Amino acid sequence: MKEIKSVGVVGAGQMGAGIAQVIATAGYKTVLYDTNPQALEKGHTGIDARLAKAVEKGTIDASQRAATMGRLSKGSSLKDFATCDLVIEAVIEQFEAKAALFQEIDKVLAPSALLVSNTSSISITRLAAVTSRPQHVMGVHFMNPVPVMKLVELIKGLQTGEDTYQMVQAFCASIQKTTVLAIDAPGFVVNRILCPMLNEAIFLVQEGVKPEDIDTAMKLGTNQPMGPLTLADFVGLDTLLYILQVLHRELGEDKYRPCPLLIKYVEAGWYGKKSGRGFYSY
Ligand code: 3HC
Repeated sequence: MKEIKSVGVVGAGQMGAGIAQVIATAGYKTVLYDTNPQALEKGHTGIDARLAKAVEKGTIDASQRAATMGRLSKGSSLKDFATCDLVIEAVIEQFEAKAALFQEIDKVLAPSALLVSNTSSISITRLAAVTSRPQHVMGVHFMNPVPVMKLVELIKGLQTGEDTYQMVQAFCASIQKTTVLAIDAPGFVVNRILCPMLNEAIFLVQEGVKPEDIDTAMKLGTNQPMGPLTLADFVGLDTLLYILQVLHRELGEDKYRPCPLLIKYVEAGWYGKKSGRGFYSY
């Protein structure tokens, strides 16, 4: 089995930057790249700021922060992934965007390199099929916030090789994540269960219950760390809507129908925490 030494992450948003942080912290040479230079800068600066906070708290020392930042570089094009053994894609949750990127990255990588997606809902089998290396493609779904959440869902496409799965599983263990093996069906495990719950909370808002009361009920009644509407704002209402649409379309059941109020919020540009307004103001 080939050893993973150098990792690329494409997409420097909250997921991609979190993933790059965890990987560089674990000791891997990491290249972070985003087609949008401002997003790349913001992602990179955010990692440094979180490490600085960790130094203040005493979780790591200044030399660990410097070493981590030293292992992390900003890519200037996809070509900077050429020497990577593994590339993790964490861009917008749209099949066309991911597929186009997969085809570009596929051309740059060595034949033995692995190409994985952090998708939360898109078919891995379908993504693998657009590349010349389907046996080296799989799903690796991190949870938000990546540096805090222990879980990674692993998803094999129909074409994924057993050696690819073994290498990715060992890699996830080396970055201190616990993995579960999900099936290649929309929403995998976490979003299949979580998104209908968040959607149901939004139906209750639509029917007149206050967001604060729903969140308090679920926090104190079921020991959730944050209530469903806070979590929906945190995940991003646009992302939540997209996942529900995929679940609804591909599983074909009315129970996944996105709440009309969620659709209205997204139409208004109220995406939650990232846009400053969702069910709460930020
Ligand atoms: N990035 C990095 N670290 C963060 C963070 C962030 N965005 N937010 C909080 N943290 C860290 C803090 O620095 C702190 O670290 P420390 O223990 O070393 O001091 C620790 O997390 C706890 O933070 P706080 O004390 O400020 O706040 P909480 O105790 O309320 O914890 C939380 C925050 C971890 C986000 C907690 O509320 C939680 O677990 N919420 C649920 C998160 C969840 O369910 N995530 C999954 C979403 S679904 C998903 O990601 C799938 C996708 O496809 C949609």
